[in-house]
Amino acid sequence: MLGTTAQLGRIAVLWRGDEVERRGATPQTSRFKAVFAALADVGIQAMPVVYEDDVVDAVRAELETLDGVLVWVNPIHEGHSRARLDTMLRDVAERGVWVSAHPDVILKMGTKEILYHTRTMSWGCDTALYRTAEEMRTQLPERLAAGPRVIKRNRGNGGQGVWRVERVVGNGVRVLDATKDTSENLTLDEFLNRCAHYFEDGSVVDQPFQARLSEGVVRCYMAGDRCAGFGHQKVKALVEDPIARAEAGPRLYSSNSDERFQRLRRLMENEWTPQLLSSLKITRDELPMIWDADLMLGTPGPDGADTYVLGEINVSSVFPIPDEAPAQIARRVAERLQKPTQS
Ligand SMILES: Nc1ncnc2c1ncn2[C@@H]1O[C@H](COP(=O)(O)OP(=O)(O)O)[C@@H](O)[C@H]1O
Ligand SMILES: [Mg+2]
Repeated sequence: MLGTTAQLGRIAVLWRGDEVERRGATPQTSRFKAVFAALADVGIQAMPVVYEDDVVDAVRAELETLDGVLVWVNPIHEGHSRARLDTMLRDVAERGVWVSAHPDVILKMGTKEILYHTRTMSWGCDTALYRTAEEMRTQLPERLAAGPRVIKRNRGNGGQGVWRVERVVGNGVRVLDATKDTSENLTLDEFLNRCAHYFEDGSVVDQPFQARLSEGVVRCYMAGDRCAGFGHQKVKALVEDPIARAEAGPRLYSSNSDERFQRLRRLMENEWTPQLLSSLKITRDELPMIWDADLMLGTPGPDGADTYVLGEINVSSVFPIPDEAPAQIARRVAERLQKPTQS
């Protein structure tokens, strides 16, 4: 059928799924339905590509025929990493296919090391980076002496490898795994042993525990360098108090004009995103078509206004998204496809 479709280009929307899902995938029935519709509205033809490591070669061949690919795949999914996927995405990007988010950009923006690299920005706090288990062993105790800390492995999601750690009398620590409900007491060595494997393929970040966590986390969604909406959530992870846990609930989405978050929006668009680009040495064009920053409340500033502390940036698989985000994504993809490809 000829018509208004595909004037701007053809792209893939890629996510992970098994063979059954692969065979049945359609734009209308997928969870990215609204993204497909928004892309079609701006004249971009998008097709579903359901990825698993065993079909990597077929997916590579398909992507090479397209102008771009929007990827939604978590760093860790049921024990699978993105290693093979990322190699393939790097290859197709080299051949001129626009990949969002590019694996190198994910490594810069979407890993916990960002908390260390941007610690001097106004969303930052007293954050340390341990590159070896030995560094953690020697430095963690003195930081714990000043108050509870949060330890995060560099790459993870869903609370995997995130711990609240607090000193207890003697040489012990009280630790709470972000995927669990209750804490346990360990010796420091026992805890260090639990973290040892994080260093096999990366580093560990150490942040102060934010006491206002139970007031909720604001997720600021970004399409490129523009805010695409918000999500506010009373979280459970690392909240131990039963009353605060009982208040936890789903993330509530709102548009980028939500009055409660306009100061945050200005900070994100005008201050933090430009600073992030220059600190990570990435260009505006390399910003992913959808990413988000999770912000906890910090100590109020001298003027009484809330301050925000960055908890993480998500880039790999930002979904669900606010209702207006698909249109913002489509706008950004259109903008990108209209640009001449750089060599
Ligand atoms: N510095 C911190 N202070 C208090 N709670 C934190 C802190 N960092 C993370 N958390 C809690 O731990 C959860 C998981 O941490 P996060 O950095 O989002 O990692 P993940 O990649 O696992 O989502 C957050 O949703 C929040 O509830
Ligand atoms: Mg998180």
